[in-house]
Amino acid sequence: MLKTREKDYTCNGIKVLRSSHRSIRELKRIHKPSIHGFRIWPSSWLLMDYFIRSRFSSQLNIIDIGCGWGIAGICCVKNFDSVVTCIDSDSAVFPYVHLHAGINDVRVKTIEADFSDLSCKYFKNIDVMIGSDICFWDDMVDTLKEMMIRALDSGVKTIVFADPGRPSFEMLGEYFQNKGMGDIINWDISQPYSIQGRILKVGI
Ligand SMILES: C[S@@+](CC[C@H](N)C(=O)[O-])C[C@H]1O[C@@H](n2cnc3c(N)ncnc32)[C@H](O)[C@@H]1O
Repeated sequence: MLKTREKDYTCNGIKVLRSSHRSIRELKRIHKPSIHGFRIWPSSWLLMDYFIRSRFSSQLNIIDIGCGWGIAGICCVKNFDSVVTCIDSDSAVFPYVHLHAGINDVRVKTIEADFSDLSCKYFKNIDVMIGSDICFWDDMVDTLKEMMIRALDSGVKTIVFADPGRPSFEMLGEYFQNKGMGDIINWDISQPYSIQGRILKVGI
C-alpha cells in the first residue's frame, strides 16, 4: 500500500509527483490545462499495467495522444526503451510532461495537435498509438474513429486505449470489434491503487 502523505511515489518503474508536490504546485500557478489535463487519470495506470503484463516489445515508435502529463509514454521509454511523442491539443500539459520526463531521466517529444488534425504525416514510422481517458464526450467518438482509421491506413500497427468504461468509449470500441479489427477487455489493477476499467486494442 502506498503512503498517501508522500508527495511522490514510484509505480511501474516510474516516479510521479502528486499535486501536493512543490514542483507541481509551482507549475499549476502558471500552466492551467483546460481540457481535463490537470492530473494523472486512473486509466493511464491501466494502460501501463497492460503494457507490462503483456510484455510490450522494446524500441517501438509510439505516439501517446491526449497525453495529459504523459505518464504512459514515459513508462514506455523507461521500461521498453520506446521512442515516444506525446500529443495533446492543450499545450499547458507539456510542462508537466517534461517535469516527469526529467525526474525519470528520459526524453519525450511533445506536439500540440488536435485529434482531428492528426493526418498521415504524424503517423509516419509510428508502430503503436496509445491513449488513456481520451474518449469522454460523445462527439469524440467519430473524431477518434476517423483518426484511428487514418492511422491504421498509414501503417500504425497497434492502437491501445484505456478508459474507465464510459458509454462513448464502449461505442468506439464496439465499432472496431464489430468490424473484427479489435477487442475490448476488462482490466483491473491494485497498484498504485485499486482501478477497474477497459482496454481497447485495435490492430495486431
Ligand atoms: C482526461 S485527460 C487524460 C490525460 C492522460 N491521457 C491521462 O490518462 O492522464 C484528456 C486529455 O486529452 C486532451 N484532449 C482532449 N481533447 C483533445 C483533442 N480533441 N485533441 C487532442 N487532445 C485532446 C486533453 O487536453 C487532456 O490532456
